[in-house]
Amino acid sequence: MTQHTVTLIPGDGIGVETSAAMQKVVAASGADILWEVAEAGASMIEECGTPLPESTIEAVKRNKVAIKGPITTPVGTGFRSVNVALRKTLDLYVCLRPVLSIPGAGGRYEDMDLVIVRENSEDLYAGIEFEEGSDAARRLIDFCDNEGAGSIRPDSGISIKPISVTASENIVRYAFEYALAQGRKKVTAAHKANIMKYSDGLFLRVAREVAKEYEGRVAFDERIIDAFCMNLVMDPSQFDVVVFPNLYGDIASDLAAGMAGGLGIAPGANIGKDYAVFEAVHGSAPDIAGQDKANPTAEILSAAMMLDHLGELEAAARIRAAVRKVYAEGEHLTGDIRRATGVDAPAASCTEFTDALVAALAEQRYKE
Ligand code: NAI
Repeated sequence: MTQHTVTLIPGDGIGVETSAAMQKVVAASGADILWEVAEAGASMIEECGTPLPESTIEAVKRNKVAIKGPITTPVGTGFRSVNVALRKTLDLYVCLRPVLSIPGAGGRYEDMDLVIVRENSEDLYAGIEFEEGSDAARRLIDFCDNEGAGSIRPDSGISIKPISVTASENIVRYAFEYALAQGRKKVTAAHKANIMKYSDGLFLRVAREVAKEYEGRVAFDERIIDAFCMNLVMDPSQFDVVVFPNLYGDIASDLAAGMAGGLGIAPGANIGKDYAVFEAVHGSAPDIAGQDKANPTAEILSAAMMLDHLGELEAAARIRAAVRKVYAEGEHLTGDIRRATGVDAPAASCTEFTDALVAALAEQRYKE
């Protein structure tokens, strides 16, 4: 068995608990992982002057693969999100979020199985903004007026939405390659090209061009984003892999995660050409941190994605099977799931749930 060295950034809040649970479960899966722990978050500011120390970035670069717990972003302190900084520094241009229902987890749909591929580097999230009333905003408004591009009210704040051929091609190609590698049948591109002809229109044009290269191997389909949302809610089974520009992908991934069972079970990854950082969709949940109440499923399923990425497919499959078993049995489920299902039974602690998973993995491996 190959040993893999992986950088573990436990994060803060419930990240400390969910990361420890994840490590136990990965060990029980049979995968041989050497964890190199690196820190990030508010606690690092005093020590290193930054929430994302250079040594942590170096650790991810060295090992190429990392898994990260959530990190609290204090409101109104000028502390920039560690997540955004990591994405930019490591050029993690793909946000990958598989949406897979777990029967027994209380989702609206018990049979969802789709994958959201979101562009992670540009669009309205590029951070190019002009404050209402500023000189720059005034000059931009004049420019648009002079160019005949359209008039903007003088009391407007403005955010720029860049969509490039380069980033669109990278993300769409990633979606098709992922579909091929995972034996998936179709890629859908979601857009609003009917209104934003030069940004979303470009995204759609590139998607159509890339799709031609995969003709006969992976089907292609396109949806206007608002219709996509309605179609998703009415019948999620019509989607397989869906690729989005940044903003729509952000919103659609939360919508889909909510339909499948919510934050407690939603895994994710940020992936680039050289590095991959796996992490649950949820945040640091300060309201339940330190109380052994967190549901570690999302981080554990993120670890299963990481094991797939490392080629440890059997260990990943064992983890997913153990998760399905513990949910199907329904005896050791955390409070968030008890509330979602409405089952009137005592909630398991994070530790009890993790122990149940470890026991299910031991039983599986004994049978093998
Ligand atoms: P949140 O996801 O931390 O919590 C929202 C609600 O869901 C809370 O009631 C929480 O108790 C519950 N919840 C979340 N994860 C859960 C789990 N695994 N088990 C049981 N219950 C769970 O979102 P919120 O409150 O908006 O953010 C809190 C902090 O986390 C903020 O500082 C935010 O910036 C940060 N954050 C960090 C992320 C990351 O590092 N990837 C992602 C999202 C938020």
